[in-house]
Amino acid sequence: MTRHLTDSTLERLELVMGEQLGFAFGHERREQLAVSAAARATELGLAGIDAYLERLQAPESRRDEVARLAETVTVTETFFFRNPDQLAALVEAVLPERARRGGQRLRILCAGCASGEEPYSLAIALREGVPDLDAWNVQILAIDVNRAMLAKAKRASYSPWSLRATPERLKQRYFKGSGTELELEPEVKKLVTFRAHNLAEHDPIFYRALACDVILCRNVIMYFTPAATSRVVTRLTQALLPGGFLFLGHAETLRGLSHDYHLCHTHETFYYQRKEPGVPQSVRFAPSRPLPEPDELPAAVADTTSWFEAIQRATHRVTELTTSAARRAGASSAEGRAATPSAVELGPVLELMRHERFAEARALLDALPPESGKHSDALLFSAVLLTNDGRLADAERACERLLEVDELHAGAHYLKALCREHAGDASGALEHDEVAVHLDPTFAMPHLHAGLMARRAGNALVARRELGQAQALLEREETARLVLFGGGFSREALTALCRTELGKLGGHA
Ligand SMILES: C[S@@+](CC[C@H](N)C(=O)[O-])C[C@H]1O[C@@H](n2cnc3c(N)ncnc32)[C@H](O)[C@@H]1O
Repeated sequence: MTRHLTDSTLERLELVMGEQLGFAFGHERREQLAVSAAARATELGLAGIDAYLERLQAPESRRDEVARLAETVTVTETFFFRNPDQLAALVEAVLPERARRGGQRLRILCAGCASGEEPYSLAIALREGVPDLDAWNVQILAIDVNRAMLAKAKRASYSPWSLRATPERLKQRYFKGSGTELELEPEVKKLVTFRAHNLAEHDPIFYRALACDVILCRNVIMYFTPAATSRVVTRLTQALLPGGFLFLGHAETLRGLSHDYHLCHTHETFYYQRKEPGVPQSVRFAPSRPLPEPDELPAAVADTTSWFEAIQRATHRVTELTTSAARRAGASSAEGRAATPSAVELGPVLELMRHERFAEARALLDALPPESGKHSDALLFSAVLLTNDGRLADAERACERLLEVDELHAGAHYLKALCREHAGDASGALEHDEVAVHLDPTFAMPHLHAGLMARRAGNALVARRELGQAQALLEREETARLVLFGGGFSREALTALCRTELGKLGGHA
C-alpha cells in the first residue's frame, strides 16, 4: 500500500504523528512511518490510509494507535551507564542537597526511559552511593511512549552489548546469568516502576502530582520540534519541586527554552536546578578538572598576549576614528529618546557595530531610555562594546546583569570568560567558555578563546582540539554573531588565526 501513498497523504500522516508524539520525522523514520501505517491499516481491514488517518485522530482510538506506531518510529538507542558523569553528579552533589532539605524522601522521574537501562543504572548508582538506601523512601518512575520497550524494561534481561559501558565490578554484583541474557538483581529491579506515557500529551494533573526531586530526560527532546520541546520542558518543570534538578542529554540544553532554571556544572557535566524564589542556587559550578598542565609545547610559541588584548588592539583603531562621529550620533539619538521613550531599537546599533563604528554604537545605546537599557539585547550589546573598549570591569558587570535576566545566555558566558581571563582568573575563564560551548555547541568563539588560553598555558593537546573546532565552526558561524563576538575581526581573519596557531602547534591547519 505504501507505494500508492500520495505525497499529500504521507505529509498528513507525518503531521498527525508529529503532533501526537512531538517529534519531526527525518527521511528514514518517514519511510518507516508509511510502512507501519499501511501495515496497520491492512491489519484492521481498512480501505486505505485515509481511513487509518481518521482512526489515528478519533478520540476513542487515538492513544492506542499512536502508541502502536510509536513502537516502530521512535529512536530507542540506550545502554547502561550512559554519561556516567551525570550519575556521579546526581549521587554526590544532588542527593546530599535533596536529603538536606527533604529528609530521606526521593522522587525521581526518568522521562523517555526506553528499555530501562537508564533508570536501572540510576538505581544501581543509588545502591552503590547510599549505604542506607533501604531506609530511604525512594521512587523511580520511568515513562516512555514505546510499550514494546517498556515490556523489555520490565523483563530486565539484557545482552552484554547493553552493558558495554558498565564497570566489571558492577556487572558481577548486579547481574546474574551468562551469554546473551544477563538478568538484573531484584534488589535493583524493585526500585523502578514503569509506566506508558506520552510526553507530548497534555496532562497537567499527572505532572503536578509527581512532585519530583530529580528528573532525567536525556536524549529525548533532541528529536522533538521546538514547539513540542518547549511544551515538554513546561510539563517537566511542573513535575519538579522548586530547587529540584533536571538532567538532559549531553547534546541538549535549556537555552532559549526556560528561565526557570539555574545551570549547574560539576563532575564535568551540566545539569539544571529549578529556581526557588528567594533561595540562592545551591549547587553551582565546581570544576572538577584542574587547569591543563603545560606539556611539551615548544618554547617558541609560548606568548603572553591575551585574546582580550588582541581584540582591544583591533578595536582601538576604529574607536579613535569614530569618536567625533559618536558625539553627533549621541546628540541626535538623545533627541530620538524624547520621541520614542520605550522603544528598544537595536538594529541600528548592530549595524554600526557591523561597520566597526563602535563608539557611535555605544552612544546610541547610552541614549536608550533606562528601561530599555535593561533589555537583554541592550545589555548584551553594552557588554560587547565595553569589552571591545577594554573596560573589562564594567563589561563584567554588564554580563552579570545580563545573566540575571538570562542565565543561559551563551554570549554572556563567553564575554564573561574574556573578563575573567583579563582579571587573571584562568580557571574562571575556562569555566565560562565551557558553559558557553555547552549552551551552544555551534558557537565558535569560546572554542577559539579556550584554544588560545590552552596554548598560552602550554597545553598543546587541548589547544589543538579547541582551535580545530573553532576553525571548523567559523565556516558556518552566523555573520551577526561574528560582528558581536569576533572582536572586530572578520571570519577570514579569525579562520587564519586558527590556522596559524594550529600550524605553530604542529596540528592540522
Ligand atoms: C534515544 S532514547 C533515550 C533513552 C534514555 N533516556 C537514554 O538517554 O539512554 C529516546 C526514548 O524517548 C522515547 N520517546 C520519544 N518520544 C516520546 C514521547 N512523545 N513520549 C514519551 N517517550 C518518548 C522513545 O520511545 C525512546 O525510548
